[in-house]
Order: sequence, then C-alpha cells, then structure tokens
Amino acid sequence: MQEFHFPNWVNKFTLVLLGSLLLFGGYMATVLYAATLPTTVNVGHRPIQPVPFSHKLHAGTLKLDCRYCHNTVEQAAHAAVPPTETCGNCHGGNRVATNPDGTPRDLGVIHGDSPLLEPIRASLESGKSVEWLRVHDVPDFVYFNHAAHVTRGVSCVSCHGRIDKMEVVQQVEPLAMSWCLECHRNPERHIRDPELVTTLDFVPPEDQTWEEYGAEWAKKLEINPKTNCSTCHR
Ligand code: HEC
Ligand code: HEC
Ligand code: HEC
Ligand code: HEC
Ligand code: HEC
Repeated sequence: MQEFHFPNWVNKFTLVLLGSLLLFGGYMATVLYAATLPTTVNVGHRPIQPVPFSHKLHAGTLKLDCRYCHNTVEQAAHAAVPPTETCGNCHGGNRVATNPDGTPRDLGVIHGDSPLLEPIRASLESGKSVEWLRVHDVPDFVYFNHAAHVTRGVSCVSCHGRIDKMEVVQQVEPLAMSWCLECHRNPERHIRDPELVTTLDFVPPEDQTWEEYGAEWAKKLEINPKTNCSTCHR
C-alpha cells in the first residue's frame, strides 16, 4: 500500500503554524501572568488562598488580636504570616504537638474534620508550611518596615483598611511612592496611642477631631517621618 505524504510545502506551513501558535500561547500566558502580579493589579488584589481563611470571622467575630497570628509586626520589618501551629491551636484535629520544652501539647479540635482545613492538618503532619499567596508586595528596591510604623502609633487600618471586616484580604491602598510620601509629609491624622494600633474600629474621644487627637500623639511621640530618598531606597 502506498503511504500518503503531504507535499513538502505543507511541512513548512505546519511548522510556521505551530510556531505562531506557540508564540501566541506564550504571549497570552505572559499577559495573563502579568495581569495577576500584585504590582500590576494593586488595589483590589485578592488571590485565592489554599485555605479559605476569614479575617472577618477570626479577627472580627472571634476578636483575636492581629498579633496573635502576625506576632512579628512589632519587632521586625516583616509582619509574617502565621505558622500552621498557630491555626493548630484550635484546628489541630486532635493532634499532639511538642512544646518548646519538649513536653507534648494537645491541639484544638474546632471543625476537627472539616475538609476546608485539610491543608492545615496535612501541614501539621508533614511539617511543610501552607503556601499562602502574597497579597501586598512592594518592589524589592523599596525598603519598608512594619515595626517602624506600628511602634510609632500608625495603625494597621491606615494601610490595610478594615481587615476585621474582610472575608478575603484585599489590597485597599495603592502602596505607591506618592502614597507613602503623602503620609510622611502629613502624618498627624494617622497617629494614635501605639497601644491601639490593632484596635481597627478605634475613634478619638468625642471632644476631639482626628486631627487634634493625632497631633497630640504625634507631639508626644515626637513623630517626624523622613522623606529623603535613602529612607526607602537603600
Ligand atoms: C487567626 C490568625 C490571624 C489573625 C488573628 C489575623 N490574621 Fe491576618 N492573616 C492570617 C493568615 C493565615 C493570612 C494569609 C492568608 C490570607 O491572606 O488571608 C493573613 C494575611 C493578612 C494580610 C495580607 C498579607 C499579605 O500577603 O499581604 C494582612 C494585611 C493581614 N493578614 C492583616 C491582619 C490584621 C490587620 C489583623 C488584625 C485585625 C489580622 N491580620 C489578624 C492570619 C491571621
Ligand atoms: C483561637 C482559636 C482559633 C484559631 C487560632 C484559628 N481559628 Fe479558625 N476557627 C475558629 C472557630 C471558633 C471557628 C468556627 C466558628 C463557627 O463555626 O462558628 C473557625 C473556623 C475556621 C474555618 C471554617 C471551617 C469550616 O469548615 O467551616 C476555617 C477554614 C478556619 N477557621 C481557618 C483557620 C486558619 C487557617 C487558622 C490559622 C491561620 C485558624 N483558623 C486559626 C477558631 C480559631
Ligand atoms: C504604613 C503602612 C502599614 C502599616 C501601618 C501596616 N502595614 Fe502591613 N504591609 C504594608 C506594606 C507596604 C506591605 C508590603 C510589604 C512588602 O512587600 O515588603 C505590608 C505587608 C503586610 C503583611 C504581609 C507580610 C509582610 O510582612 O510582607 C502582613 C501579614 C501585614 N502587612 C500585616 C499588618 C498588620 C497586622 C499591621 C498592624 C499591626 C500592619 N500590617 C500595619 C503596610 C503597612
Ligand atoms: C499612614 C502613614 C504612613 C504611610 C502610608 C507610610 N508611612 Fe512610613 N512612616 C510613617 C511614620 C509616622 C513613621 C515614623 C516616623 C518617626 O519615627 O518619627 C514612618 C517611618 C518609616 C520608615 C523608618 C524611617 C523613618 O522615617 O524614621 C520607613 C523606612 C518608612 N516609613 C517607609 C515607608 C514606605 C516605603 C511606605 C510606603 C510603602 C510608607 N513608609 C508609608 C508613616 C507612614
Ligand atoms: C517614603 C518612602 C519613599 C521615599 C522617601 C522615596 N520613595 Fe521612591 N518609591 C517608593 C515606593 C513605595 C516605590 C514603588 C512604587 C510602585 O511600585 O508603584 C518607589 C519607586 C521609585 C522609583 C521607580 C519609579 C516609580 O515611580 O515607580 C524611583 C525612580 C524612585 N522611587 C525614586 C525616588 C527618589 C529619587 C526619591 C527621593 C527624592 C524617592 N524615591 C523617595 C517609596 C519612596
């Protein structure tokens, strides 16, 4: 039986076609990828997380302090997302963990067999951390520092909004240079008693406006944010 061959020009044509399909596919993939980068999306950016963790429930209804989970905000540049064991305190599914001193500790059983919490139980078992996706991300050439803000009376709410009302965390501020500088030039409105930085629903006493209240604390703390380039680009 005679084998069927496409004429030679078809081979070339197929190559060109395949090539352009690949190029186009690559192009679309790049566009889609770029469109999901935090720096591109900025305000409104909210990736789908491996576990549908709700700040509205945990920080709002249950009133857990932000620092219960983001326990490095006051000491370190980075706020850090909590290790799985923090979740395990309540959602360990009856597993046993080891305390720093070597003694065993029972983990909590709230929603102990919820399928939504399977990645948490798997992580406790394997010791591999849950891969939370970043929501906020400034470019690497920018130096940002959480402790420098929260210990000086700038509340989480000034930069992250009402996280305690969010089912899914979403970026609410542009994190652009002009945004940083606007506050560095006129910080008063954003300064409060540093003890209250995680009290997101705080309002000043009735006889004071935000400006008066903030100015008082700014004076007390001698707040004077820098605006020279090397503050944020070092
Ligand atoms: C029970 C633990 C817990 C508490 C309490 C908590 N968080 Fe979170 N937070 C998480 C986890 C887990 C993530 C990562 C998943 C996500 O983005 O929802 C996160 C993410 C965030 C992010 C986004 C991080 C990023 O990638 O940019 C911000 C901002 C944040 N939390 C602020 C707060 C504030 C403000 C409070 C207090 C009102 C708070 N959190 C209370 C566990 C907690
Ligand atoms: C102090 C205890 C506590 C800690 C710590 C805690 N949670 Fe929860 N979580 C709860 C409670 C209480 C509920 C359930 C409330 C209800 O069902 O009414 C809950 C519910 C949930 C649910 C919904 C489960 C379902 O099947 O409906 C998820 C998901 C969840 N938590 C994730 C997390 C993650 C992730 C962490 C760690 C970052 C965490 N939680 C830390 C107390 C806690
Ligand atoms: C002055 C503005 C500002 C304040 C105040 C602030 N944040 Fe942030 N936060 C940011 C910026 C900017 C980023 C992105 C940092 C980066 O990309 O390095 C961020 C990132 C985060 C992250 C992701 C992990 C990380 O460190 O990059 C968490 C979690 C977080 N913030 C929680 C909090 C909590 C909780 C508070 C209050 C106790 C708070 N932030 C106060 C601006 C702020
Ligand atoms: C809502 C107000 C506010 C915003 C927004 C803000 N800052 Fe600040 N920043 C402050 C205050 C207040 C201080 C503390 C100044 C002091 O200690 O006297 C500070 C301090 C700092 C410091 C420590 C150095 C210094 O000035 O003493 C750095 C670094 C910094 N900010 C970077 C940033 C960057 C980068 C951004 C934007 C991504 C930003 N800040 C956004 C208010 C703000
Ligand atoms: C308070 C913090 C802060 C200070 C002070 C600051 N910058 Fe920036 N700068 C930023 C942030 C945040 C970005 C990233 C903006 C973005 O991703 O959109 C940035 C971005 C830039 C860029 C990249 C282009 C752009 O606009 O995105 C240049 C160039 C730059 N800064 C130069 C400077 C120079 C020059 C100075 C001094 C006159 C300075 N910056 C002072 C925070 C700061």
